[in-house]
Amino acid sequence: MDLSALKRGISEMKKEKNALIVAHNYQIDEIQEIADIVGDSLALSRYCAKTDFEIIVFCGVHFMAESAKILSPAKTVLLPEADAGCPMAEMVDAGGLREARRKYPGAAVVCYINSSAAVKAESDICCTSSNAVKVTSSMKEKDIIFVPDQNLANYVAKQLPEKNIIPWHGFCSTHHKVRKTDVEKARKAQPEAKVLVHPECRPEVVELADFTGSTKQIIDYAAKSKEKKFIIGTEMGVLYKLKKDNPDKQFYLLSQGLVCVNMKKTTLESVYYSLKEMRYKIEVDEAIRDKAYKALDRMLSIS
Ligand code: 13P
Ligand code: SF4
Repeated sequence: MDLSALKRGISEMKKEKNALIVAHNYQIDEIQEIADIVGDSLALSRYCAKTDFEIIVFCGVHFMAESAKILSPAKTVLLPEADAGCPMAEMVDAGGLREARRKYPGAAVVCYINSSAAVKAESDICCTSSNAVKVTSSMKEKDIIFVPDQNLANYVAKQLPEKNIIPWHGFCSTHHKVRKTDVEKARKAQPEAKVLVHPECRPEVVELADFTGSTKQIIDYAAKSKEKKFIIGTEMGVLYKLKKDNPDKQFYLLSQGLVCVNMKKTTLESVYYSLKEMRYKIEVDEAIRDKAYKALDRMLSIS
């Protein structure tokens, strides 16, 4: 099927089935073009929590679609590519987290939304990259077990010296690959450019940046800034919106390795078949969902 037939088919099925297509900022350009909503993890969670559509086609990775299902259990949530996962979300499991709780009694658990429903269910509250500092500072406990991203944990610890952050050992292989030398090289090549990075980058990379934030915060920062050149330290999918919204500005990817293969799995064809065959449905065990919901809802209520 050619591209225009796929787009036509998607648009017809969307109307017929009362479906909403949401996409993360890292999705391929064609998916961002046809999506009803494009955003970061927080914006998409918020949207899915309140939408009236009966079907949500989630173009992203598994934990994102699962979070939508946790927040909207009566809806059908579809992930177009069954094996689009986030390797970092697999770096912590519920058993390991229970063990950490035993090791640090009295500590609260803040869990990055990049985690499974079972891990969310064992946590006191969730956070995303855009609200991690605010969420953590809202906790009355001084000791905070922060899972699973060590780099986001370090970023939060720097902003909140009054807290004792106990970082998990997870990381995002896409962002963790970026090194200090990449920033130095990029700055040398484009000395006037501002460096904008995601907090999943290593602390020494964050240290050298002009701004650190979620995908949406990076996009917003570049749009509002009077500067004309930006070095982008997050997954290359954000370049679509950055270039589209700011034709007078220049964007350079901090490292050519900033590609998340899982985010790139979803294609127009997979969205078409997802709607046609109602695949792949996300299901969450009700006992786990109920507890995971509390952690997500607590986050949404404070940020
Ligand atoms: P954002 O919430 O910033 O969009 O990030 C999600 C993610 O997976 C980053 O790698
Ligand atoms: Fe997971 Fe990293 Fe991909 Fe984000 S970029 S979905 S953290 S693997």
